[in-house]
Formats: sequence, C-alpha cells, structure tokens
Amino acid sequence: MAALQPIKSSVRTIVMLEKYKEMLEDRTAMGGLATFVPNKKLPVYNWLYFKEGFSKELVNFLAEQFRLQPGMTVLDPFCGSGTTLVACRELGVDSIGFDVLPLSVFAAHVKTRGYDTAKLKEASAQLFSQRFMKIKEEFPPIMKKAFSKYALEDISFFRRNIAQIEDGTMRNFFLLALISAAIRVSYAWKDGAVIKIRKSHRPPLRFMLKRTIQRMVKDAGKMKGRAQCTVQQRDARTMKLDDETIDAIITSPPYLNQIDYTKVYEIENLFIRGLYEKPPMRSYIGLESDTEFLPELDLPKAANAYFHDIHEVLEEMHRVCKPGAPVAVVVGNAYFPGRIVDSDLIICHLADSAGFKIDRISVLNARYALEDRTTKKGVLRESMIIMHKS
Ligand SMILES: C[S@@+](CC[C@H](N)C(=O)[O-])C[C@H]1O[C@@H](n2cnc3c(N)ncnc32)[C@H](O)[C@@H]1O
Repeated sequence: MAALQPIKSSVRTIVMLEKYKEMLEDRTAMGGLATFVPNKKLPVYNWLYFKEGFSKELVNFLAEQFRLQPGMTVLDPFCGSGTTLVACRELGVDSIGFDVLPLSVFAAHVKTRGYDTAKLKEASAQLFSQRFMKIKEEFPPIMKKAFSKYALEDISFFRRNIAQIEDGTMRNFFLLALISAAIRVSYAWKDGAVIKIRKSHRPPLRFMLKRTIQRMVKDAGKMKGRAQCTVQQRDARTMKLDDETIDAIITSPPYLNQIDYTKVYEIENLFIRGLYEKPPMRSYIGLESDTEFLPELDLPKAANAYFHDIHEVLEEMHRVCKPGAPVAVVVGNAYFPGRIVDSDLIICHLADSAGFKIDRISVLNARYALEDRTTKKGVLRESMIIMHKS
C-alpha cells in the first residue's frame, strides 16, 4: 500500500478538531435510522439479519437530500448487507458496492438481482420434494456447537441439493435462504463482538427453510427497480474505479474498536466457503498494527491503525467522486480505557485533508461510555458526516 503523505502540523490538527465540534448538530430524533432495526420488517432488506447495518429510511433521506436521480451512480465502499444498494435500486439509481467480508458481498449480491418467481417456486417445490437422506459430513467445531445434530443433517442435505441447482442466480438465492433459516434455528447468538451459545428448543430447519423461502419468493415478486447494481469483493482502500465516475457516496465504515466481522459472521461465512476469496486479515480496516499516524493526537495503537486506513479510503473516495459529489459517512466514536476517541471529528479532519469540504455533522445517537458496565466515562456519539468533493 502506498505511503500516505503526512498530515501537517500538530497544533493545527487539534484546533481543526475544535472547529468541527462547532459543526455538530443534534439529529438524535433520527437515531433509529442509523440501526438495522427498521429493516427487520422490510422485504429484501431482511433477507439477512446484519446488526451493523443502517436503515433503508436513512438512505432514502440522503437520496432526497442529495437529489439522486436515475442515471446517477452511488457508491458504498463498505456495503455490508447492501442497504444502500437495495434502496438505490428501488429508486432507479445505479450503484456499486464493495466489501471484503464474503457474507456481505454474497448477501448484497443476492438482494440486488432480478428473479423469475415462477422459476423460484418450481425450484423450491423440487427442493422439498426430494427424499431426505443423511450425508456424511465433518463440520467445523463452531457448527457442531451452534446446531443440533438434526439441524446439521438438514444443513448437509439442503446444501447439497441447493448446490445442484444449475442457475447460479437461483442457487445463490436459495443458499441465502438456507443461511438465514439456519441462523434462526441455531443456538448461537451475537453478543456484541462475540458469538455465544445458548441451548434451547429450536424449530426444525426444514420448517424454517420452507417458511423463509416462501417469504423470500413473495418478496422477489414485489422487488422494485431496474437500476444496475454491481457488488464486488474489494478492499475500500483500493477500489479500482475510474477517476471522477461517482455521483454520490452513502456509507458506513466499521467502527473503531468494535467487532471483528470475521468472528461475528463466522458461521454464516462457512456456508459460502469457496465462493469467495478468504480476505487476508489485514484487509479489514484498522487491523494493521504498528502504524504511526496522527502522533499529535497521541491515540491508542488500534486507533492509529484505524485512522490510517480510513484516510486511505477517504483519498480513494475523493479520487472516484465527480467534482461536487455529496458524501455521507455514518460512524461511531470509540471508548478506550480512560479515553474517548472522537472518530467523527478525526474523520472530518482526514476528509478535509483528502479534499472534501465538510457541510455538517449530524449527531444521530449519543450514549454514555460505561466502564465495568456501570461507571459513566463520557458520551459516545454516532454521527453522520455530510460533505462534498470540493
Ligand atoms: C458498518 S458495516 C456496513 C453496513 C452497511 N451500511 C449495511 O447497511 O449493511 C461495515 C462493513 O465494512 C466492511 N469492511 C471492513 N473492512 C473493509 C475494507 N477494507 N474494504 C471494504 N469493506 C470493509 C465490513 O466487512 C462490514 O461489512
């Protein structure tokens, strides 16, 4: 990766951060839109539960602000479960999504294809008409912990039958249904950054899969929009897009000091093993240690690495944006023992140095940073930075 130009002057950086503080505006009434919760009830958006996602409404709100129109191309360099892309498709706006996590690329891809529902129904009937047989398969330890013996047998059976569907688009559709249904019957639950196992009575996978497929086929029949959408497994730091081709960016990078996506989505990723490259660990933002960056801010090591990578992404974003293109970045601040790191302000500073002009910083959520789950250590913001390529 190319070495970054040092960002000049320590005193200036700190003064700049103060300047951005003055740009904070309270939009906490919109806080819920920065979460995936509203998507849980929405067709297509809810084909995969992705806790770290934002909502369709947030994208629609920005689409209106940015005056997005058919013929334009929106980029989400951290597309996650594809919320930006699905919303753009519904609005008739072309979009491009990148992510390094195989599950994200897969889910965003499946959610943005066009389907022939008659063919899906036919394939579904065929899938459930096959006589059950046990398939010998050795599962990784996490799968053995996360599923009952019967669920694992069903996973093997349906996975094999889905793999035999010839049409790749339909095959992926059913595979996403299998992932979604399997997670619902698993003993695993995501407790923030870790997977925990809680054994309880779970419905049979076959039953859950049938219901999931029925729902998804119905959704596929109602899918709106004909816009083009490209999803690729790619590191946001090296997007390989032509200069000045993007009309707007709506995105949310991983938050500093939050989750390890490879761990939290380990089970889902196992279902699509082999379909995508396993990204080297360092492809995920903020994982390169020993990075000297912004020394004047005396940040924790992990924060140095994170902002170094985010700066590279911002430079890429600036390169690919057309002049004047509006950009929205949703990001959360982080707590390290004894210290709050204002990611929103630091990202504004880095974006500024990459050539963006900050228009406003909308605070969507604010909560206490807690130590030992009880002691309040200050306020953590989740903000939406609105800027444009100047
Ligand atoms: C906060 S989530 C995005 C959620 C998305 N807005 C949605 O609604 O589903 C951040 C995403 O960034 C991805 N990511 C991490 N490092 C990346 C990198 N270097 N390049 C591209 N994507 C990356 C993670 O895999 C994750 O899917």
